[in-house]
Amino acid sequence: MTDRSTPEHASEEHFRLLVQSVIDYAIFMLDPQGRITTWNIGAERIKGYSADEIIGKHFSIFYPPEDADKPARELEVAAVDGRLEDEGWRLRKDGTRFWANVVITALYDSSGELRGFGKVTRDLTERRNAELRLSERRRLLSHLVEAQEIERRRIAWDVHDDSLQSMIALGMRLQLLADELPPKYASVARELDEAVNGTVNRLRDLVFRLRPPGIDQRGLVEALSSYAGVVLPRRGLDVTLRPELDHEPEPETATTIFRICQEALTNVLKHANAKAVHIDLSTMDEGVRVRITDDGTGFAVTTLDWSSGRDHFGLIEMRERAETAGGWWTISSGETGTTVEFWLPTTG
Ligand SMILES: Nc1ncnc2c1ncn2[C@@H]1O[C@H](COP(=O)(O)OP(=O)(O)OP(=O)(O)O)[C@@H](O)[C@H]1O
Ligand SMILES: [Mg+2]
Repeated sequence: MTDRSTPEHASEEHFRLLVQSVIDYAIFMLDPQGRITTWNIGAERIKGYSADEIIGKHFSIFYPPEDADKPARELEVAAVDGRLEDEGWRLRKDGTRFWANVVITALYDSSGELRGFGKVTRDLTERRNAELRLSERRRLLSHLVEAQEIERRRIAWDVHDDSLQSMIALGMRLQLLADELPPKYASVARELDEAVNGTVNRLRDLVFRLRPPGIDQRGLVEALSSYAGVVLPRRGLDVTLRPELDHEPEPETATTIFRICQEALTNVLKHANAKAVHIDLSTMDEGVRVRITDDGTGFAVTTLDWSSGRDHFGLIEMRERAETAGGWWTISSGETGTTVEFWLPTTG
């Protein structure tokens, strides 16, 4: 007979109470044949059976029909290896399923005889659903980014093969015409030719910006540095790229980062009247943080009207791209210039 007053007994009793009252885990014991011998509140909550209903039943009752051979196999493995961990569907009393993480531990007495098994089960349904939602979102995002890039490539080809070629042909005809006209009209024709040349250059710029950046072949940093290296110095802007990335982001994230940077740099060229721009890339909070800072004139962010999107498509597009990818985007500006900063999550 056990002496209820000994310290060992008191601590055993406390331990039993602790296990009994754990609500987040189903913790119970099986005899060597797999029949349930103890039951706690967590088990009642997760599986729906009361202790009276379930004690004495075989634990195979928790397994769905397609896993009929699993219970026996799991006990065998646990008895040999000492422990077994598994994830899969389990049944509640009402027949509904939950996604369970299960650990079965074999319990041997001091003489080495198998006395039974301890079983701890967690309900991971919510976590699994959240993971599925996240991977679905990633899948949709990569489709969206891919579709946008295909559309951009198509527009680039159309502009290149149609509008640009027509403009070039028009310019050549104007030159020929200018050569044949009397001087009075020739100068008008040359002015028109210059205007056409200006349009040709702008269309070339547009095609260059629309073209996919070739991230798949060269990686993000290389694509960004060659883009910035071509576009910015041509307009007298000094650019520094500081890439401090632990790893290359996946292609759709890299493309999104590239497109946001491109939009921010276009704004620097268009509005800032800056001398220098810094692009910082760093790995942060399981994602990539990018900061683009110019030393230009700046502007009053607070006076912007975000609602219509008709006049200021660039800022809205940057923010939407970042938020669609599950990240954030901000802009701040003052007399010393403008900073665009954003963060996108990465998977690897
Ligand atoms: N780096 C910058 N320096 C100074 N002003 C800026 C800068 N970036 C944005 N702005 C200001 O914010 C406004 C909104 O920018 P946004 O990119 O949304 O529109 P936009 O460049 O005028 O037109 P769009 O991008 O649609 O062609 C700009 O018109 C400009 O006044
Ligand atoms: Mg813009």
